[in-house]
Amino acid sequence: MKRLLTGLKPTGELTLGNYIGAISPLVKLQEDKENEILLFVADLHALTVFQEPSLLRDRIKRFVAMYVACGVDPERTTIYIQSQNEYIPVISWILECNTYYGEASRMIQFKEKSKGKENFTVGLLTYPILMAADILYCDADYVPVGIDQNQHVEIARDIADRFNKRYGDTFKLPSSLITKQGTKIKDLKDPTKKMSKSEENPAGVISLFDDLNAIHKKIMGATTDSDNAVYFDEENKPGISNLLNIASIMSDRDVDDIANEYRNSGYGNFKRYCAEVTVNKIKSIQDRYNELIETGEIDKILKDGIEKSRLIAKEKCELVKERVGLI
Ligand code: TYM
Repeated sequence: MKRLLTGLKPTGELTLGNYIGAISPLVKLQEDKENEILLFVADLHALTVFQEPSLLRDRIKRFVAMYVACGVDPERTTIYIQSQNEYIPVISWILECNTYYGEASRMIQFKEKSKGKENFTVGLLTYPILMAADILYCDADYVPVGIDQNQHVEIARDIADRFNKRYGDTFKLPSSLITKQGTKIKDLKDPTKKMSKSEENPAGVISLFDDLNAIHKKIMGATTDSDNAVYFDEENKPGISNLLNIASIMSDRDVDDIANEYRNSGYGNFKRYCAEVTVNKIKSIQDRYNELIETGEIDKILKDGIEKSRLIAKEKCELVKERVGLI
């Protein structure tokens, strides 16, 4: 049995990038009965930048319902809210005291988010250490993430390894699991950067909650190059390659298969196909989401999930405290 764990941060609505990079690979991983999966809402991580409290509260629950609507099966996967597990921040603090300032400040995401800013929170710096606690408390073997989070899984592994050497075997060393599906999905208006929840220009970002006509329009309006041939070349044709990745996952077909079919039929026809398969997929997710919100199933799922997560974390927290000499 292998344990897999991943989380998503509720700083904005779930995007197509989150679905393709994290949720849909997880849904596939559920099929293997040898995998035990934990999935959570990383709400403490959301606080590294200011969130309007009422909006955040609402969004946390919507994330959970959206996970289930996307195909995460609560019978197979433990779903919980990070902040409801009080042991994780304790472990995180102890890990902070075993992490060097230099290694935390070298994280690409920290550098990007703090660049040019006079004021950013200390939480932005310690963010990967809380993430390490999320991963290490349950001895996760694998962490399915999109490629942008790979460095954070690596630092979790380094911290665990250092801790084990200093205090004796305590944590399992985790590895990230980046499936082919974990491809970084790019912004539709600027295909050189990742599609992100916190992006200010909504024309480049597809939210799983978007109106279906708006999704169609966003894909038809995606930035592409001026050559009219459809083929995969991330360096020279980032816009078309991004749409090929999206179309491939939304339709469950190979990129090459789609590229061969549309190679000479012009960008318009290819974009229309991409928009159609995306809209169909998101429509079925939204239908299921609306059903779930009405039934109140979510509260029960969360209650079961947090109980299980707390049980595992309590045991690890006690061990960690003992290892470092706390009473
Ligand atoms: P977050 O919320 O930024 O992203 C959640 C997941 O979605 C993936 N992702 C993408 N994949 C492909 N294309 C994109 N455009 C794209 N945008 C996001 C991310 O790689 C991620 O897998 N720090 C994490 C949350 C977290 C976590 C953890 C994850 C907290 N603790 C422990 C794993 C394990 C984050 O901010 O993800």
